[in-house]
Amino acid sequence: MKTQGGTVKRTALTLFASIAVAVAAVGGILFGYDTGVISGAILFITSEFALPPTLEEIATSSVLVGAILGAIAGGLLADRAGRRLSIIAASAAFLAGTGIVVVAAGLPVFLAGRVLIGMAIGVASFVVPLYISEIAPSALRGGMVSINQLFITLGILISYGVDYLFSSSGDWRAMFALGAVPAAVLLVGMLLLPDSPRWLASRQQTDRATAVLQKIRGTREVSGELDDIRKSIKAQKGGRWSDLLAPSVRMPLIVGLGLAVLQQLTGINTVIYYAPTIFQFAGLHSAGASIAATAGVGTVNVLATAAAVVLIDRTGRRPLLLAGIAGMAVSLAVLGAGFAFSGAVQGGSLLGLITAVSLTAYIASFAIGLGPVFWLLIAEIYPLNVRGRAMSVATVANWAANFLITLTFLTLVGILDQAGVFWLYALVSIIAWFFVLRLVPETKGLTLEEIEEHFRAGRHPRELKGVARPRD
Ligand code: BGC
Repeated sequence: MKTQGGTVKRTALTLFASIAVAVAAVGGILFGYDTGVISGAILFITSEFALPPTLEEIATSSVLVGAILGAIAGGLLADRAGRRLSIIAASAAFLAGTGIVVVAAGLPVFLAGRVLIGMAIGVASFVVPLYISEIAPSALRGGMVSINQLFITLGILISYGVDYLFSSSGDWRAMFALGAVPAAVLLVGMLLLPDSPRWLASRQQTDRATAVLQKIRGTREVSGELDDIRKSIKAQKGGRWSDLLAPSVRMPLIVGLGLAVLQQLTGINTVIYYAPTIFQFAGLHSAGASIAATAGVGTVNVLATAAAVVLIDRTGRRPLLLAGIAGMAVSLAVLGAGFAFSGAVQGGSLLGLITAVSLTAYIASFAIGLGPVFWLLIAEIYPLNVRGRAMSVATVANWAANFLITLTFLTLVGILDQAGVFWLYALVSIIAWFFVLRLVPETKGLTLEEIEEHFRAGRHPRELKGVARPRD
């Protein structure tokens, strides 16, 4: 296999690289756990602090506000202090925020803790994929970065389970306290791991970059890969915010921002956060139905993401995105139709069935495409000198859109009815499908330096075609 440097490159996955990915991806568990745990905890917090509905909404969404702030600050942090230190700072903030939440005697302290946890999530949500993408061999990069998304879905599922376990005692502090376990694992693990070779090289720490690359690749022969990285660093200048507007970064920026917003505006978190409510709309009111809905949604999310991890370096990114988004559009349209016409077709149990089937299909379609591929692509398409900053811009847009959808869902249902809201998300999915068709590049198998060179030459994203690189 020829790289730009002309050396033969094999795609071995060393134990060291696997450990680095597994440790960093614990950040995904925290992301999933800390965004999911609130759904079961909020009932008890609301009654302990005697919160009216507006304050309940603020308590629920404070973590998203923190994530927006963290994503803003994380860009500079990742480029200046490095990927490793950024993840270490995020895990320390996770621990501190969790401590504050667990001892909170009133709402203001609780909110401060949740905002801090949110800031940690905002940083980890993009620096973890960034770190993994800069470590992974190109033929395996898609699957390795998507382990982070797999861990997000696992974190969500675990949070549902923990919420359920403590729901009889109502001990919401214990629900949050358990989040400290992965945070401590992440902190200690990252203290023991090195920074990414690409970031080290970009800071002129060539000897360390070489040593890390040798360890990760399990061979002393890394000069070809290092030459590629160095050449690409030489071709860049600056590394300022204004460089994001350079012609070569503009298109990747549009692709990242578009996917960021579309990942949220197609409604995923209305299902992740409100699945039991949606089932109640469909006439399934029992506690059993609500538990089954949440557990089912969480499990399908994990399983379909696991399928994406296996497929993504074989099929490529675009086929998964196009198939997944098409599935989302169809299942949302069916879900909307179920609500619109259920009266005519004897309501009740039929609507429950349509809801269960279409929500399952919707989640599986998201998990095979937009879920993992968005976070992967934004870790692949930006040049090294501004990679942290560019990813931070896309990540802020993602969290802001998440905040918007979460806050407006119930109000929109009041205005448009359930059918109208799901059809609206179906319409956005159709727009997303064409966006991907026209603008999203195929990065499969390419090195980050090859992707960068393509955009530096001013070429259109769609002209970038992936390659099939053999694995060991
Ligand atoms: C999204 C989250 C979502 C999660 C669900 C992530 O890719 O960014 O907003 O909750 O997937 O699995």
